[in-house]
Amino acid sequence: MNLDEILHKENLSKEEIVFLLNLTDKNDQQFLFDRADEVRSKYCGNEVHLRGIIELSNYCEQNCIYCGLREDNKKLQRYRMTPEEIIETAHVISNLGIYTVVLQSGEDHQFDTAMIAYIIYEIKQKAELAVTLSLGERGFDEYRSWKMAGADRYLLKHETANPKLYSIYHNKQRLDDRLAHLKFLKEIGYQIGSGNMIGLPLQTVEDIADDILFCKELDLDMAAFGPFISSPETPYRSKSAGDVDLTLRVMAVGRIVLKQVHIPATTALATLDDAGRIKGLNVGANIIMPDLTPSPYRERYQIYPDRKCINDNPLNCKGCLQLQIESIGRKISNSRGDSMKIGEHSRA
Ligand code: 5AD
Ligand code: SF4
Repeated sequence: MNLDEILHKENLSKEEIVFLLNLTDKNDQQFLFDRADEVRSKYCGNEVHLRGIIELSNYCEQNCIYCGLREDNKKLQRYRMTPEEIIETAHVISNLGIYTVVLQSGEDHQFDTAMIAYIIYEIKQKAELAVTLSLGERGFDEYRSWKMAGADRYLLKHETANPKLYSIYHNKQRLDDRLAHLKFLKEIGYQIGSGNMIGLPLQTVEDIADDILFCKELDLDMAAFGPFISSPETPYRSKSAGDVDLTLRVMAVGRIVLKQVHIPATTALATLDDAGRIKGLNVGANIIMPDLTPSPYRERYQIYPDRKCINDNPLNCKGCLQLQIESIGRKISNSRGDSMKIGEHSRA
């Protein structure tokens, strides 16, 4: 196969995606990265959007095999922020000049329909912010109520598009259900985000190619590709982490295949490699999602250990990111950074 030709094709086959994901020669890999950067620049420009995450609860009713928040982890000290703390944190984020807040938690039904709706409504009343929800699989009526309350986007990663692996990782849950949730969310007007994890046990490069095609099929507004990191109180405690270079290739191929989609340089990537954020921004990413959860909660949201910046003061975060982003000739956006597909489907 001719690399240059493949990199400029309008549509890539699964075989071509696998070929790109397997590039190990340094020059070939750089060629791929440069093409992804070019596609990013064409479709997204030079702006980087920040999404400030508030981790409102680390309770979770699920038992995902890789995740430190899984219900069976009895060692984790659990917390729930109060609605007032969450709303206050959202305003701090807004005052930092960050225009999206992500409300994230494990699957925690104690935060019921009305409480989440109240929080969304209050945040939107007092600030010009986009609200993204990342609360796991919830009821279809709940998604509807939260949309009415003002939520703009929903983030629900598929983690793997291989149905067998999906059931192994997710305690016999079904990929089809996740797909139905994502489709419903899109149908009722949410901008939707999904994505996978790279380097999970049993996963092949073919599976990862299917993940990218799954994102294309779903016509996502945001696609996140992040490495797996082993977490001590889980069945995968002794598994090795995802490979940084493979993750970068997945992001690059993701950009080339998905084109006008938002792609974050993930915290997991930055955790494995100190330069991960910059590397990610240079291979197709245009989003950074800093954790702005206040102490003492942030330390307890232990999906995996030693998360990047976990001991830093959230108030210093934007300045630090700004220096990094400007060092590579990019700049922080002053807009909400809505879907680049808006117009193709409804806006919030
Ligand atoms: N390594 C990397 N990412 C993880 N997540 C959960 N566990 C891990 C892990 N061990 C990510 C998943 C999930 C989100 C809550 O965090 O993508 O969607
Ligand atoms: Fe819960 Fe999400 Fe972790 Fe699964 S990945 S255990 S749903 S917090």
